[in-house]
Amino acid sequence: MDQYVGTPLEVRMDKDAGTFQVSRRVFTDQDVLDREHEKIFQRCWLYCGHDSELAEPGSFITRTVAGRDFIFNRDTRGKVQVFYNLCTHRGGRVCREKSGKASTFQCFYHGWVFGSDGSLRVIPQEGAYPEGYKNDSRGLVHVPRLEQYRGFWFINLDANAVSLSDYLAGAKEYIDNIVDQSEIAMTIVPGGQNFQVDANWKLWHENGMDPFHVHSVHSTYFEYSADATKAGTERAAAQGVSTAEFDTKASAEVMMRGRYNALMQTKTKLVYDLGNGHMAYDYPSTHGRPFAQWHPSWDPKYKAELEHVYEKAVARVGAERARKMAHFDHHILIFPNLAIVDNHGIMIRTYFSKKPEEMLVQSWTLAPQEESPEVRKLRLFSYMDFLGPAGFGTPDDVEAIEAAQRGYKGAEDYGGWNDLSAGVAPKDPMNFVKHGDEGRMRVFWTKWQEYLSS
Ligand code: FES
Ligand SMILES: [Fe+2]
Repeated sequence: MDQYVGTPLEVRMDKDAGTFQVSRRVFTDQDVLDREHEKIFQRCWLYCGHDSELAEPGSFITRTVAGRDFIFNRDTRGKVQVFYNLCTHRGGRVCREKSGKASTFQCFYHGWVFGSDGSLRVIPQEGAYPEGYKNDSRGLVHVPRLEQYRGFWFINLDANAVSLSDYLAGAKEYIDNIVDQSEIAMTIVPGGQNFQVDANWKLWHENGMDPFHVHSVHSTYFEYSADATKAGTERAAAQGVSTAEFDTKASAEVMMRGRYNALMQTKTKLVYDLGNGHMAYDYPSTHGRPFAQWHPSWDPKYKAELEHVYEKAVARVGAERARKMAHFDHHILIFPNLAIVDNHGIMIRTYFSKKPEEMLVQSWTLAPQEESPEVRKLRLFSYMDFLGPAGFGTPDDVEAIEAAQRGYKGAEDYGGWNDLSAGVAPKDPMNFVKHGDEGRMRVFWTKWQEYLSS
């Protein structure tokens, strides 16, 4: 018998048959999207920006979160604020710059001026109003809730939401392992990438949770990586640099079918339900990591410095945490629409749909503040090489999910369902211990349905 996780129309599980399915309507239906906006995006904590983006008093950034335009700033007294980028006069756009430093913002429509703390300072036609009209009630509107965890600022449109700390639950430990990669603080590398993808936002979130596509979708990258590893091993040998500690053959063949399947079947716990719809999974890394694992595919000149960074990390956080932080890739998916991917670099990415079949993707990369210019250069190359919008990884992922989205167009004709059943065993239907299980996605979909049904 079917056991519906929520309404029978959207997510269903049949333990006896070992199936978990998601209706394809959820990627195409405007009504579903409207419900998501109301029941998820108006109630969950949403990533807004990083502390390092507001380096000094007066720094500001205009940012779109959940389709709304905000000013994310540090006021001239140093307090971080988020205001709707909307004039209290007649709705003009108060700040039209992407970023900068300002003690005041002047609406371009009729010239009202607001302080960096949001207070209304000047009404050009003030004489036409009663005395005292220019008061706090006409200042910029604050977002209902604004909280941060270790430099990651989140907003919530629900004034009654639980605290950010409670909401993040087990994800905090993973954020700690990102932040503690620095001796001082992590920093957003200036700039970022915004791009549109012709697919529903949930497809990108699923893609981030899903290592099952990697072997087939990213095969070009692995061929390139194998060549680079072979050439790099020869280069290192010519320079007398040892690569003995690396299983370069396995590394060159990483994700080749046999090895990949073995990883998928491992009983080692590498996938974690972090609570509240968040999940994470780890991989023993087989490529170079800017923190702090040199690899033969990289120039030997970086080896000594990365080994030193690793030694300092061991001294700072202990051998076990340092090993996990440096030698494993980490994918952290925070409900509903934030991915923090720590593999070829650290990527922070959000995605949001205004229409069911398209989304705006926003990406940034994070780095230790104290990193040397040489390693920073290597980090950015490594990041863009795979995770950048024109790298080896992202365009292939975009192609995969856009093709799926196009296919869903007919879903209403034939009542199509996506299958997320791997690992639904009668004794443990939410099993996600084995790497090959799709329980990782079921964590998201179960929470998604819970929000939509509430
Ligand atoms: S709408 Fe901003 S000053 Fe009129
Ligand atoms: Fe991918």
